[in-house]
Amino acid sequence: MAQEAIAYANNINNRRIINGDDDVVQLYPIVHKFAWESYTAGNANHWLPTEISMQKDIEQWRSDSVLTEDERHVVKMALGFFTTADSIVANNLVLAVYKHITSPECRMYLLRQAYEEAIHTHSYQHIVESLGLNEAEIFTMYKRLDTIYNKDNFVAELVGEILEPDFKTGTFASDQKFLENLIDFYVIMEGIFFYSSFAAMLSFRRRNLLPGTAEQFQYIMRDESMHMNFGIDLINQMVEEQPELWTETFQKRISNKLCTAAELEEAYAHALMPRGILGLNAESFRDYTQYIADRRLTSINLSPRHKVKNPFPWMSEQVDLSKSKNFFETRVIEYQTGGALEWDDF
Ligand SMILES: [Fe+2]
Ligand SMILES: [Fe+2]
Repeated sequence: MAQEAIAYANNINNRRIINGDDDVVQLYPIVHKFAWESYTAGNANHWLPTEISMQKDIEQWRSDSVLTEDERHVVKMALGFFTTADSIVANNLVLAVYKHITSPECRMYLLRQAYEEAIHTHSYQHIVESLGLNEAEIFTMYKRLDTIYNKDNFVAELVGEILEPDFKTGTFASDQKFLENLIDFYVIMEGIFFYSSFAAMLSFRRRNLLPGTAEQFQYIMRDESMHMNFGIDLINQMVEEQPELWTETFQKRISNKLCTAAELEEAYAHALMPRGILGLNAESFRDYTQYIADRRLTSINLSPRHKVKNPFPWMSEQVDLSKSKNFFETRVIEYQTGGALEWDDF
């Protein structure tokens, strides 16, 4: 028994985000508590797109007098971006990240996240189908619009190497590459590239337009903020375990990368709303993407670069589900609502 206890204690010391020599199928003892907390919070926020009524949206979309052409363009282009973005994230998780993570509790959360990405893609499909949009137009948009393609390509650059069958963690170069992949996906893709579209889609809700679509995006944004916060914990924990990876040159590269990402996001926001919509003007999106980039920089312990004020403080209110109508009241099965989430991170 004493020996068993010693082995158990040793396991705690051996558990690491990557390169751990612990048994990856043995959940206990949990060391990376943030992962378990994210997993249980994710379960508490479970939802399905088909549970949200799209009736009003269908009426408004069919009417000639409710939505402007610019507003219709926002809906179609945001869907064009998201339909592929969530699949890119899911593929990276399942095919590139999962296999190298050696913490069972982190793997538990990755499984939950992968399922949520599928729910998000389902949600976009459900909106496209409900509104009767042209599937071919929406689902191929990432190949046709430079502003979407450039964002996808920016984060996809590193995946190729990590997907190679002979890619292994355990050297300085490969571990740093893996860390950069986590930053690309969790901080840039899910933390910067989603946010102009979120702001635009949630602005519909403020004007009582497309309430079903806006509600779907509200739930997606809640999930995405969990993904990003888990990713930030994962990245910071990995740096704590392997501080030698966090060199000055690497920090500088990452900091510049986040600034370039903010520029790509701003270009995307201009293409999304060339004349502004619903009281949001295209210029305010420069401040917004820079504000978001600064928040992401500080979350991984890098200095902010832009120091601008948040032009959309209402964004945090829009995702505070406890203040909005109770989605869960209308459901057959009552899931626990997500009281555990902090919305300050917007
Ligand atoms: Fe997603
Ligand atoms: Fe996500």
